Amino acid sequence: MIQWFPGHMAKARREVIEKLKYVDIVYEVLDARIPLSSRNPMLEHIIDQKPHLIFLNKVDLADPLKTKAWADYFEEQGQSVVLLNAKDHKGFQEIIPKSKSLLSHKFKKYTRIGLTPPPIKGMCIGIPNVGKSTILNRLVRKNIAKTGNKPGVTKGQQWLRSSKELELLDTPGILWPKFEDEMVGKKLALLGSIKDDILPIEEVALFGLSYLKEYYPKLLQNYYELTDEQLTFTSSDLYIYLTEKKGFSEDFERMGILLLSDIRQGKLGRMTFDDIDHLSS
Ligand code: G4P
Repeated sequence: MIQWFPGHMAKARREVIEKLKYVDIVYEVLDARIPLSSRNPMLEHIIDQKPHLIFLNKVDLADPLKTKAWADYFEEQGQSVVLLNAKDHKGFQEIIPKSKSLLSHKFKKYTRIGLTPPPIKGMCIGIPNVGKSTILNRLVRKNIAKTGNKPGVTKGQQWLRSSKELELLDTPGILWPKFEDEMVGKKLALLGSIKDDILPIEEVALFGLSYLKEYYPKLLQNYYELTDEQLTFTSSDLYIYLTEKKGFSEDFERMGILLLSDIRQGKLGRMTFDDIDHLSS
C-alpha cells in the first residue's frame, strides 16, 4: 500500500511526467462521490497544456442530483466530463467522441487530406481506489492483445488497443491524494483512497456518521432502522447506540469497520460527500 511521503510524491510525479510525453490525451479519473477531494491539486500544473477529459467514475454509488451538479460545474469551467460506472460497464460510449472533439486540432491535418487518423493515445491517471484499473480493464477487455513493442513508450510499458480509434498505456498514472486539509483527508479515508491506518477508524467512521446525519438522514434512518428520536442523538451517542444495537458491546472499532464498509459499498444508498455549495463558502 502507498504511504505518501515527499519521496514517493516526487517519484510518482516523475513517472507521470515521463508517461505524459507519449500520450495525446489524459483521462483524469475521479470518484463521483468526492469529485473535488479525489482531485490532485498538482495535476493541472503537471499536465500543462495536454487535452484532458475527466472521468467521474462510480456514479452508481453517488447521489445522482449532485453528480449532475458536479458535471455541470466542471463543464462550466471548460472541462469535458464523462460519467462512468466502470463496475457495470456504463458510460464508455462517450469516451471516444469526447476525446475526438478535444483532439480535433490534431485530427484536422489527416481528415483534410482524406487519411484516417492514427488511434488516440491516452492514459488514465488518478489517486488510489478511484477505479483506474477497472476502467482500463473494461476498455481493453476484448482486445487484451498488446500492440507490441512499438516505439514511443517507456521501457517495460506497452500500448493496449481498446479499439481502432483508441490505445491506452498499460499502467495508469498514480497520483498522490491531498490530505493536508483535515476534511479532505477524512473523506478520502472514508471512501478508502488513503490507507485505513493513517487516520483512526473510529474517527473516520464518526465523521461519516455525522455527515450522513446532516445530509442523508433518511438513508441513515432506513438502513439502521432508527426512530425519529434516535436520529436526534448527537453523532457520538448515535455511534454508541449503534455499537450496542449491533451487539458489539463496547467494541467501537468493530462498529467503525462495519460503518465504513456499509458506506463504501453504498449499502445505505447513493451518496456524495463533496458539496458544490461549499465551494463558494
Ligand atoms: P484504482 O486502480 O484507481 O486503485 O482502483 P480499482 O480499479 O482497483 O478500483 C477500486 C475499487 O473500486 C474496486 O473494488 C473496484 O471494483 C471498485 N470500482 C471501480 N469502479 C467502480 C464503479 O464504477 N462502481 C463501483 N460500485 N465500484 C467500482 P474493490 O472492492 O477494491 O475490489 P473488487 O472487490 O471489486 O475486486
